[in-house]
Amino acid sequence: PPKFKVTIVGSGNWGSVASKLIASNTLKLSSFHDEVKMWVFEEMLPGGEKLTDSINLTNENVKYLPGIKLGHNVVADPDLENAVSDANMLVFVTPHQFMEGICKRLVGKIRSDAQAISLIKGMEVKKEGPCMISTLISQQLGVNCCVLMGANIANEIAVEKFSEATVGYRGNRDIAEKWVQLFSTPYFAVSACQDVEGVELCGTLKNVVAIAAGFVDGLDMGNNTKAAIMRIGLREMKGLSKLLFSSVKDSTFFESCGVADLITTCLGGRNRRCAEAFAKNGGKRSFDDLEADMLQGQKLQGVSTAKEVYEVLKHKGWLEMFPLFTTVHEICVGRLPPTAIVDYNEHAPKHP
Ligand code: NAD
Ligand code: 13P
Repeated sequence: PPKFKVTIVGSGNWGSVASKLIASNTLKLSSFHDEVKMWVFEEMLPGGEKLTDSINLTNENVKYLPGIKLGHNVVADPDLENAVSDANMLVFVTPHQFMEGICKRLVGKIRSDAQAISLIKGMEVKKEGPCMISTLISQQLGVNCCVLMGANIANEIAVEKFSEATVGYRGNRDIAEKWVQLFSTPYFAVSACQDVEGVELCGTLKNVVAIAAGFVDGLDMGNNTKAAIMRIGLREMKGLSKLLFSSVKDSTFFESCGVADLITTCLGGRNRRCAEAFAKNGGKRSFDDLEADMLQGQKLQGVSTAKEVYEVLKHKGWLEMFPLFTTVHEICVGRLPPTAIVDYNEHAPKHP
């Protein structure tokens, strides 16, 4: 039978770790081609070298994942259309705000038998309502698109500390199993769950809760307050997911993509870290400024997701049902002070 050929679209912090996981498996599994292509958004390193050349020479992404070998079978390619042209398994892992443009460029450029998976935590908001990134990919490119989400801080997986992840799929379980096979290692335990919307909404919405957790840390409010924020956040995640898609299952929130990702991101993620600095500065430094200063080119997803969620809630008339999501956005844009993150007394969430 013909072998599967993998291309990774994206090469940031998580994209680079994903390439390491995948490249170790394509060497071991006979049903995959050894070579893994990785599309790199080209940029110049401070020494004047192109990032792509540096990755191909050193086998390391010195900007987004320094000190980690990706695998000699990873080939970086700055040409998006060329990178995807012969792949039939496409892994999308860029910050979510770039995906609309990337999908537009890829229309008509991918193989007709291609399968896709999205590792991207975020959504787009259209006039018709929210559009999950996997839906954007499947609608624009005419492919089936699974998702992989979980408690997965990339730098920890890069040094092979154990973690779990959830593949969300609809329809064909065989394809989900193929993705599970491609990602699983002894230190990365992946399981499949037939709830693509639930898995993707967990990964997306927890980034808003992580911003709230960061505010709590920045204000030194302590562990009980942070736990309260995580509980209220989880309840809003479940409430909104089920209102948007009645098919979302309760059990999904107990998978790695649900409560576990919420916990790890609220303890150790980038969204938490920048939100902590935002609150410490009393909201006087903008998130754009903090992101540029603290993340060296890596991107926050929680602030834009809070805005996107706010637009959906406003459009649907649901703002009052989701006080935590609503308040996070209002703090981010400066309409409320960071201390407002615990002002819930008057309107507790009314949804189930
Ligand atoms: P990142 O935060 O490291 O972002 C940097 C990447 O964005 C670089 O590859 C850069 O080249 C690219 N980029 C910058 N400008 C661009 C443009 N105009 N067009 C296209 N690309 C551009 O990225 P990441 O950590 O790989 O995150 C990707 C997705 O994975 C996000 O949705 C994130 O939430 C999710 N995720 C991240 C982690 C993590 O720990 N880093 C873990 C799980 C999921
Ligand atoms: P941050 O983007 O906040 O670092 O979260 C990473 C993540 O999604 C962990 O699963």
